[in-house]
Amino acid sequence: MLVDGKPYRTIWLNDDGRSVDIIDQTRFPHVFSVVTLKTMKAAAVAIRTMQVRGAPLIGATAAYGMALQMAEDPGDAGLDHAYRTLMATRPTAVNLRWALDEMRELLRELPLGERSARAYLRAAEICDEDVEICAAIGRNGLEIIRDIAHRKGQGATVNILTHCNAGWLATVDWGTATAPIYMAHDAGIPVHVWVDETRPRNQGAALTAWELGRHGVPHTVIPDNSGGHLMQHGQVDMVIVGTDRTTASGDVCNKIGTYLKALAASDNCVPFYVALPSPTIDFTIDDGLREIPIEERAGEEVSRICGLTREGRIETVSIVASGSPVANHAFDVTPARLVTALITERGVVAADKNAIAAMFPERVQSAQAREPQVGTA
Ligand code: MRU
Repeated sequence: MLVDGKPYRTIWLNDDGRSVDIIDQTRFPHVFSVVTLKTMKAAAVAIRTMQVRGAPLIGATAAYGMALQMAEDPGDAGLDHAYRTLMATRPTAVNLRWALDEMRELLRELPLGERSARAYLRAAEICDEDVEICAAIGRNGLEIIRDIAHRKGQGATVNILTHCNAGWLATVDWGTATAPIYMAHDAGIPVHVWVDETRPRNQGAALTAWELGRHGVPHTVIPDNSGGHLMQHGQVDMVIVGTDRTTASGDVCNKIGTYLKALAASDNCVPFYVALPSPTIDFTIDDGLREIPIEERAGEEVSRICGLTREGRIETVSIVASGSPVANHAFDVTPARLVTALITERGVVAADKNAIAAMFPERVQSAQAREPQVGTA
């Protein structure tokens, strides 16, 4: 997408042909800065500290992390070490495992001398594929928005609520939840986005609002607890969120607070859509509540908040009574029954095991092939 007229992706190969550049998302919305990752360890730190975040971008960064390792040490021990180090960075987004499995399976079959070049090539392909996938999600979701606009009547604005950042900053480009919104806006359909601030890290206020603003999409940032009220008063036509992991049966894990929005949407007959690339579907599990690991992050993300003072200084202040314990669960699971449909690169599909399997039969097969067989070592 464009930043001050210049096209950017969130991750790209540095001009030196070996290092990897990322946009540092910990400094948004006040500072736009690019950081160069020179080692696999730096890629792991970038994922863990959320300089890069969002399921698809975590996967893309991990793929480049494997390439950085291959440039440094293409041996089997280095390959396994990189796989384990990167896998341990964040537990919930399944795109991380998907990208690391892709890279390891490809690389371990190759002679050492070929591994580095092939790793960089595959990491770049994963990034390009993500851009294609998100664009396709955008085209498929655009039809849903167009339909709502048509039903509302000529010139009426379609009000869309989103949670967290499932925008281009969370992917390589376009975003998942935002891709249909950008395309609708570009097609001249009047859209307005209610942006949940998304405490504690404020991905909505800091990232989604920044993105939408740069693209000129009308939006309003709201506290996380406003959505239900807006839905009760007919001010939300649809919800679109992203996901970090969706099970084979359509349970959706996403940023904490998503479930409450789905409940409110269901109570108010507001359609609740989840936009996702197929690498975010974990075909090895069915039960989102029991089987998806939910990341718990530092309490400081809740008890402290960072912002820009009137004098232009970036400062972090404490907002919780001293001594009070805090909890910071980063994700929750929305059961499939609350999801109107999934917007994927292949089309819009019910959040239902058979429907998902029919849309992605080869992914079901490869998940089954990977499952350990009973009685084998
Ligand atoms: O903790 P984050 O910022 O990595 O969480 C991101 C989300 O929850 C996004 O909604 C999800 O990854 C989808 S991104 C297209």
